[in-house]
Amino acid sequence: MDTHKQLTIGLFGFGVVGEGLYKVLQQTPSLKANIKRVCIKHPGKERNAPDALFTTDKDDLLFDESINVIVEVIDDADAAFTIVSTALRNGKAVVSASKKMIAEHLPEILQLQQETGLPFLCEAAACASIPVIRNLEEYYDNDLLHSIKAIVNGSTNFILTKMFEDKLDFQSALLLAQQLGFAESNPKLDIEGYDAVNKWTILLNHAYGIVEHPNNILFTGIQNIQLTDAVVAKEKNLDIKLIAQAKKLKNGKVAAFVLPQFVPIQDPLSFVKNEYNGVVIESGFADKQFFYGKGAGSFPTASAVLSDIGALRYNYCYEYKKLYHQTPNELSNDFYLKVYVSFDDWKYIPREKFEWIEEWHAEAERKYLIGVVHLRQLTESSWWKENSTSLILAAEAIIDNLDIVHLKKRSLELAGVV
Ligand code: HSE
Repeated sequence: MDTHKQLTIGLFGFGVVGEGLYKVLQQTPSLKANIKRVCIKHPGKERNAPDALFTTDKDDLLFDESINVIVEVIDDADAAFTIVSTALRNGKAVVSASKKMIAEHLPEILQLQQETGLPFLCEAAACASIPVIRNLEEYYDNDLLHSIKAIVNGSTNFILTKMFEDKLDFQSALLLAQQLGFAESNPKLDIEGYDAVNKWTILLNHAYGIVEHPNNILFTGIQNIQLTDAVVAKEKNLDIKLIAQAKKLKNGKVAAFVLPQFVPIQDPLSFVKNEYNGVVIESGFADKQFFYGKGAGSFPTASAVLSDIGALRYNYCYEYKKLYHQTPNELSNDFYLKVYVSFDDWKYIPREKFEWIEEWHAEAERKYLIGVVHLRQLTESSWWKENSTSLILAAEAIIDNLDIVHLKKRSLELAGVV
């Protein structure tokens, strides 16, 4: 794309993000980008923009030769994929914020970019205002990227903050997240971890060259967390957060998942409140780095879309270095996790699935234990998220295969068993 050329945008979606982008572009004339048409689904709604801008026919945008950029910020993943693939095939650069669509169609999207050589940018699809995709893509070598731990969903972080700090009940906190425009139109996607795992799928691709369907990544959301879990956390000076993480194991494979986790109150991720997101990267020589910013909401998300539009001026494309120019990493399915599990009745807990149990507290109505399980005990059955059972990872949860024998011996010695 010629850097002096005007960017003429066809915008799909005029919801929280689309309208935010429209306003933000009006305040940034230096970008030389203007929205020519906006395709919407429901023409009857009152909108703060001239009627002539809107159409319900996607072809008005996709087949308009003067439009050279398609920005797609709708939440129907199937429609979004049709739009993105048609746009790329018609020679248009694409900016997308549809995390579900990207996560579920990653191989096809990679293929389309290779075939067309056109930019497909999606910074807004993960951690909204934090420029995490471009940083992972450009800055870090996958050999040096030891681990990433992140809060990637604003709504669930908002709800946890409101429940545990402001003592709001779950439903009121969710309603507030919806009113503020943070939640997905189907909030189950936020609450049960789907949105977070979709974002994690995208980030694993840029960080490690991993191309995996979100269904193959272990995840859950905050739906089972109980107030009694928060009481235990407080006693131990911990917070509870929904954490996405990836860690290089000693064999070079990557342990990756999205689960609730205890976070020490002095950890940078504990500092991340409300709709903010945070990313802690541990890399060789640099040690720890912390990225922090708003992870949901109209202008923060629009800011990432705006940055992608700006990057199109100089023809920026993701190189997918870790995938195409280095040896891509693989996901591991062979490691152990240290977990806290709270439950109503022992009958719901398959004790034989634990390598060892370090603590158990059976006296109160709500009981809990702390123990170590192999990943497969969580991927092969769902006992840990049924019958009001709540599983929360210990602060340091991942146990490498190569360390398990030694750690088990030490734990049994401490318990006086051997
Ligand atoms: N529902 C999403 C969240 C919006 O709460 O993080 C931003 O992707």
